[in-house]
This record gives sequence, structure tokens and C-alpha cells, in this order.
Amino acid sequence: NEQPKSIIVIFGATGDLAKRKLYPSLFRLFQKGSISEQFAVVGIGRREWSDETLRSQVKESIQTEISGDHTNLDEFCNQFYYKPFNVTSQHSYTELKEMLHTLDKRHQIGGNRVFYMAMAPEFFGTIAQYLKSEGVTETEGWTRLVIEKPFGHDLASAKKLNDEIREAFSEDEIYRIDHYLGKEMVQNIQVIRFANAVFEPLWNNQHIANIQVTSSERLGVEDRGGYYENSGALRDMVQNHMMQMVTLLAMEPPLRLSTEEIRSEKIKVLRALRPIADQQVQESFIRAQYGQGVYDGETVQGYLKEKNVSPDSQTETFVAGKLLIDNYRWAGVPFYIRTGKRMAAKSTKIVIEFKPQPHNLYHDKIEKNGSNLLVIHIQPDEGMTLMLNGKKIGTTGDTSSVNLNYSQHGIDGINTPEAYERLLFDCMIGDATNFAHWDEVNLSWAYIDAISEAWDEDQSNLPSYPSGSMGPREANELLEQDEFHWWPIEKM
Ligand code: BG6
Repeated sequence: NEQPKSIIVIFGATGDLAKRKLYPSLFRLFQKGSISEQFAVVGIGRREWSDETLRSQVKESIQTEISGDHTNLDEFCNQFYYKPFNVTSQHSYTELKEMLHTLDKRHQIGGNRVFYMAMAPEFFGTIAQYLKSEGVTETEGWTRLVIEKPFGHDLASAKKLNDEIREAFSEDEIYRIDHYLGKEMVQNIQVIRFANAVFEPLWNNQHIANIQVTSSERLGVEDRGGYYENSGALRDMVQNHMMQMVTLLAMEPPLRLSTEEIRSEKIKVLRALRPIADQQVQESFIRAQYGQGVYDGETVQGYLKEKNVSPDSQTETFVAGKLLIDNYRWAGVPFYIRTGKRMAAKSTKIVIEFKPQPHNLYHDKIEKNGSNLLVIHIQPDEGMTLMLNGKKIGTTGDTSSVNLNYSQHGIDGINTPEAYERLLFDCMIGDATNFAHWDEVNLSWAYIDAISEAWDEDQSNLPSYPSGSMGPREANELLEQDEFHWWPIEKM
């Protein structure tokens, strides 16, 4: 069992992501013995904190986020150090270099370094370049750069950012986070597909009618209006998380389970996406904005009334789209995606709808909606359901739908590891499979840019949907035009 050791330098140590995700994840890895006890964390921020301030913040965040066993928490926190920092001052970097050198010796880490960018993206490039020019990346061990989203705002800015970080780090040292790739059931997609004899033979346009990927949230924009106004659901969720799920569902079996082979198959899917220019964008990509609505008896306000949101904002909080993949396996099979804030449920699910049989002896007996479905439950519940038809008990041949259910939570009450825990560990052992390669980012931005450009040209269509619903009518029409409908995942 490999126990990686490293100094982890977190830019944005006083921020929300560090507190909610990174500290608790590191603690879990430490408690399980997954990472070596020879580690140190250097928290970087603008504030004038001391080591002690950071340590008590880390402690507090772990006590808030993790229930149960907190043994060794003090020992863990004592390996945290804080450095007040000005990201645009050369001096900060020369001091950091010295500090890392000292900590490396003290904790006998061997020169391994993770630089984690968990702060405002406008500084990612500057920081990477300074780390290189001031020699902070020169060590006898390995160095890796972990970079949070958003990775650019469009293709041009993503390219610019990539060029900047590539001056300091090579592609295989860069770990672009997409936290959906750290989710247990997203990682399970390829196991379900490639470790079962029953699915893969059917996994094509001969047998699959359509695939529906939904990621809905109940929360609104909360206090992220400033960011979200420049982003919208298309950039915030579709360019990264939704596209990643589509590629995992659609890719060919890789030659082997190596990072290169898997990424190369994913990239081929993105290259096979039918360009939006060849579709009617208004007919295949729907956007909408949440209006007022009722949740559990309480009225919530619409998007336009949210903090830091312009009262005439054209930002979409919902997207439904139809993606077509022009290759031998998927020709003619629509991949429908849908994501939005303030919807009826917090839920991410994938529904694979199989085609009806060519000749069904029970066609007049089968219950309405008797299609065979494979549902992959990504969250909040984790598992899958295969929906079949069986004989209705006590009748002479009427059918009813039967569900074969597998729930991951059912296994000994195991708490599956959090996405960040998994991804941090992967980065520390040098496994980049569950991170986005530049080619993936590049191709998905090219696809997304075409949609947002088309939307920008025609501002007329921004329907509103009531908070607490599953989106606007237009999203239903998207499937109805193909004689399909959304399977009601909020009830599955
Ligand atoms: C983030 C988006 O990437 O994903 C958020 O910026 C969104 O707007 C979040 O809420 C959803 O993640 P999860 O894991 O809660 O589905």
C-alpha cells in the first residue's frame, strides 16, 4: 500500500473550498493511514493569520464537517503552517521557497509538492509563473499543480490560462479538477459497462433509444451571484460535469485501464460530437431562469431578486440540451442533458432507455411506461436500478414493472469517500485518470462556445420556470419532438 508523502501548498487556505472540502478530506486520508504521516500543509492567504489561527480553523472545519472519531486531530493540525501572501509579489515566493525547504527537512518529505489553486481563477496563471521563476518548483521530488474550476470562461480564456500554466508545469504535472470525476458512482460507470457481460453488448444504437443525464439542485445561487452572473448553468455545470458524464457513458472500451487510454477514448467522444452549427441550436439547447416558487410550503424568490444579480439578468440557471455523437456506435441516439438550480430535487441520475423489442408478445398487456431502463444513481443515493417487466402476480399474463435495485449505502452502512478525498489521494499518487486533460477541456469549450454564441445572438428565448419544478415546458418539448419524455428522476 502506497502511502504518498508531500507538502501540500493551498492557495486560498482561508476560503470556503478549503474549509468545507480540502481539510476534512485530508483528515480522512490521514486517519485511514492512506497518506504518510510525513506531510505538511502550507496554507496561503492574504490575511495576516498565524499558524495557530489556521490550525484552529482547520480543527473547527473538521469538527463541523466530520462526525464521529476525531482521534489524532491535534496531531494532524500541528502539521499545518500558514503564510500570509501577496500573489503578485516576487518576495512572497522567495520566502515560500525557503519555508518549503525548511518544512521538507523537518518532516522528511523528500521534496514532493502539490500546489493547490483553490482561489480566484484570475491569479492561477500568475502564481504558476512565479512558482517557476522563483524556483519554488525546483525540488528533488515531484511537483504537481491542482487547479480548480472554472478553467477559463470560454475557449480563448481557457487557452490563455493553459498557456500560462504550461510555462511552469508540464501537462502530466497538471491536475484539472472536475469533482464529478471523484464521485463514487461516476467512477462506477466504467465498471458497470466494462465488467459486466450483460450491458456492453447492448450499449449501442441497436438497443439504446436515448440516454438522459440529469443533475438538479434545490439550492439557488446563494451568495455566489457575482460569479454566477458571468457563468450561468452552461459554463458552471455543462462544460465540465455534464460533458464528463456523457463522455464516460459514450466512450469505447479503452485498451487498458491506463490514464492515457481512458483519456484518449474520452477525447474521441468529444471529437465526435455533432457541432452545434449543424443543428438548430434553439431547438436543441434550452435555457431558462428560475422564478419565484414554493418549497416545503415556503415561498422563495426568483433569480432576479437574488443578491449580486442584475434585475434584468439574462443568465440561465437551467439548461437542457440534446447532444448527438456522430460515430458508429451512437449514430441516431440522442443524449439528453438537463441541469439547473432551484429544481424539485437535489439529484444526479443517468437513465439509459432501451429500445422496445421488435416483436413483443405482451404488447397489449404491458403497463404504460414499460420500457426497460437502467438507472445509475449518482447522488444523493448511490447505486443502480434495472427496470424490467414481470408477470403480475395472480393474473394470467398481465405484466407489471419490477425493479432490480442495488444501493451502495446498503453495504454495511459504508460511507463512500468524498470526491475530494479520492481526488487528493489520486493526485498524491500521481494518477491523473480522474482529472481533465487539456484536450478534453479544449474540445468541450469549443462546443460550449458555439452554444453561448448562438444564444447571445438571439436573446429572445429565456423562459422562466417556477422554483421547485423540474424546469420549463420547453425542456419537455425537447424530448417530445423526438417522441421521448424525461423519466421522472425526482421520484426514482
Ligand atoms: C459546482 C458548481 O461545480 O458544482 C456549483 O459550481 C454546483 O454551482 C456544484 O452547485 C454541484 O456539485 P454537487 O457535487 O453538489 O452536485
